[in-house]
Amino acid sequence: MCGIIAYTGHRPAVPVIIQGLKSLEYRGYDSAGLAFEHSGRLHLFRASGKLQALEHKLAGGQVLHATTGIGHTRWATHGLPNETNAHPHLDVHYNLALVHNGIIENFQQLKSLLMDKGCTFRSETDTEVLVCLIAHGLEHTDSIIEALSWSMSQVQGSYAFALISRQHPGRIWAARKASPLILGAGTGENFAASDIPAFLPYTRDVVFLEDDELVEMDAGNWTVYRAHSLTPVSKQVQRIKWDVQAAQKGGYRHFMLKEILEQPKVLMDCLAGRVDRKNNTINLSELQGLPVPSRLHIVACGTSFNAGLWGKYVLEGLAGIPVNVEIASEFRYRVLVEEPGTLYVSISQSGETADTLAGQRMVRERGLPVLGLCNVVGSSVARESDRVLYTQAGPEISVASTKAMCSQLVMLYLLALYWGHAKDRIDSRTVRRAVTDLYSLPAMMEAQLPRIQTMAQKLCAQYARARSFFYLGRGINFPLALEGALKLKEISYIHAQGYAAGELKHGPIALIDNELPTFALALNNDLLGKIQSNLMEIKARNGPIIALTNPETVLDVNDRWEIPWLEDPLNSFLVLPALQLFAYEMAVYLGKDVDQPRNLAKSVTVE
Ligand code: F6R
Repeated sequence: MCGIIAYTGHRPAVPVIIQGLKSLEYRGYDSAGLAFEHSGRLHLFRASGKLQALEHKLAGGQVLHATTGIGHTRWATHGLPNETNAHPHLDVHYNLALVHNGIIENFQQLKSLLMDKGCTFRSETDTEVLVCLIAHGLEHTDSIIEALSWSMSQVQGSYAFALISRQHPGRIWAARKASPLILGAGTGENFAASDIPAFLPYTRDVVFLEDDELVEMDAGNWTVYRAHSLTPVSKQVQRIKWDVQAAQKGGYRHFMLKEILEQPKVLMDCLAGRVDRKNNTINLSELQGLPVPSRLHIVACGTSFNAGLWGKYVLEGLAGIPVNVEIASEFRYRVLVEEPGTLYVSISQSGETADTLAGQRMVRERGLPVLGLCNVVGSSVARESDRVLYTQAGPEISVASTKAMCSQLVMLYLLALYWGHAKDRIDSRTVRRAVTDLYSLPAMMEAQLPRIQTMAQKLCAQYARARSFFYLGRGINFPLALEGALKLKEISYIHAQGYAAGELKHGPIALIDNELPTFALALNNDLLGKIQSNLMEIKARNGPIIALTNPETVLDVNDRWEIPWLEDPLNSFLVLPALQLFAYEMAVYLGKDVDQPRNLAKSVTVE
């Protein structure tokens, strides 16, 4: 899971590449590197650590003349995150330089084969094996593209790569299989990158490459080929409308904070085009002609999984559709028991999560229908779904997902209303009321966010010494408890466990003492009485409790955190930012790297 960028054109390549890598750092940031061709030689710069370390190495300025190059920001999969393993990698004769994202699964066999033929390796990476394999292919042909085609037929796994050659100045080759790669088509310059923001300052015209496609380009031309047959493919150039500013911090200290506070706007954007404001009806034109499913099977990872689990409550409650929600990494290896009328729903912010994608491919191979709920337009999940509902949350840069979940919840709620109405389980009046309430949410959230943030700051200072937390919820608040715990652990590194509150007595309660705080979601709904009893059990064992609650509830807890009451499921839209801001403020208080937490990357494109 790395970020790659390739540039060929009229500008100095190094600043373009560095700029591109900055916008790709969310994909990995344990080392970085770049290579360019100049005066018939390949020049290589690499550094472990964040991009700054690479910039220091480049500070000499002698590199500014090259106009073609490739760059990489790494998230280690094979070999330690040190300089030797950083990309680009060169072949033995220093003729080729390669950057790569993904995993070559049969790299050990290929490595042994190449070693038998006299190849030596400097790093532990699968990438170096790939570049040596291409060089080996070139022993039998003069054509780089033929050597690439042959190499791609030899490797198994998922990858996107970009290659330059000492002997072909100004030219770049790039290809993908199950890892993202987008071509940026400029004027007198061309790009290939793992994500669009990497070249958005220079061009808005993009071409989405498909699996097993290979592009050859120079400053003035690009041609896409089918990798195995080398027949040219006619591709459509698409124009990106969103702004690069939208992908930047906009004055906030962290992307995560910006994205949390952006949620009122996300709610509006998400409703845009989905709701007929005049009649307050729901209009999901993307689903036109699709029968109401008799069962839903939601497949996702991490935060998107938690959103899916939340969706189960509203979809079953409002639409009466039975819903299974599965962690994609488990689902993909299970026996798929087909049931007629089932619709599979992949939820993914990035649309590139390897496990989610694999689950979805397994489903489609059986000829079963998939609905993608996706944020990134043109991503693999979106392209490989039968129908797509874009969540329209805008680019999410912070590694910890926040606003994407908010948009996923809106879409799941709209789906529940839409299908519930189609099945005559809910009448038009109810839909109209729900839509009106949804439209009142952004202003309500906007007004509450400052108060929520202040309270989060106060509580964090009090609880920052905790080594572990329980997050408890029941009903629709159970998935949110899971999400609160996930947010806290991933950015503050405090262990946290989300639990269904009623399950505590079946084991975990043994851990409760005065050093293990509980963050309880004790909202005013029909399960309040139940959660009150659960909290009494904790209190009786001296467990400190923070309760996120609504006015007028009676609770015996250490810290009461009130948010205004909204009828479920709308209450969730105030609970969610409270959980996010608590985790955020905790991480800031503890001095953690909020936007780039250790060991994580934004989109998990490896298994
Ligand atoms: C948590 C987080 C991850 C992602 C997960 C799925 O904050 O960001 O748990 O939610 O990796 O990613 P997508 O939604 O892109 O498939």
